[in-house]
Amino acid sequence: MAEVVIVPDRETAGEIAADLVASLIRSRPDAVLGLATGSTPLPVYTALRRRLAGTDVSRVRGFALDEYVGIDLAHPESYRSVITREVVEPLGLTPSLVQVPDGSLEGAGSAGERYEAAIAAAGGVDLQLLGIGSNGHIGFNEPGSSLASRTRMKTLAEQTRRDNARFFPSIDDVPVWCITQGIGTILEARHLVLLAFGESKAAAVAGAVEGPVTASLPGSAIQLHPRTTVLVDEAAASRLRYAEYYRWAFRNKPA
Ligand code: PGA
Repeated sequence: MAEVVIVPDRETAGEIAADLVASLIRSRPDAVLGLATGSTPLPVYTALRRRLAGTDVSRVRGFALDEYVGIDLAHPESYRSVITREVVEPLGLTPSLVQVPDGSLEGAGSAGERYEAAIAAAGGVDLQLLGIGSNGHIGFNEPGSSLASRTRMKTLAEQTRRDNARFFPSIDDVPVWCITQGIGTILEARHLVLLAFGESKAAAVAGAVEGPVTASLPGSAIQLHPRTTVLVDEAAASRLRYAEYYRWAFRNKPA
């Protein structure tokens, strides 16, 4: 079962996740991080700036979960731009060691295979940060995605385009296609850390943690992973059936 930690606010979740990432980097200076975009992981990156001050991060490697297809790389909302702005620059990572799937129209057909090969060559992902979509997606694996899927091109769900329209002038500007690590790819990371905040994520979180494992709710694939940490605020936890048990277990966690 995933370890579910219910926290008062997103800052606390960010601190806990940052502790996990920082202690990984201290024990393994060339750690491989799986990086998420969107609003959810931002408190983690903010907390990491403080945690990693004075730590040599020059050998840390990273792989983003996904990218829009057909977006100009220089567009501020391309995930290449977001990862550079929110992660690589503030944390002082080495830009050439942090990869984002190739979302160019010319490259997208073969980008999945190349990305999988790059992750394998790096020895796999040590710790994968994950958000979850209001429709239950992880990465951009929309409902119906195979639980065994690998990095590939996908069509975004309308719900996802509506959710992400806040980053663009209008919904018509949100790309239609993406390239995303598959669910099978994500499950190979050695530790999954999924964060979710707010009431709009409550149903997806309940389905992911406690629902049946189903491609209809891709986040439920975390139940197949032996080491998952779920960090949620009270609103995102509000539909969890066993919330009291998770609180009890966390309070009584063996040292
Ligand atoms: P959000 O997106 O962090 O912007 O809510 C999460 C996701 O879609 O995975």
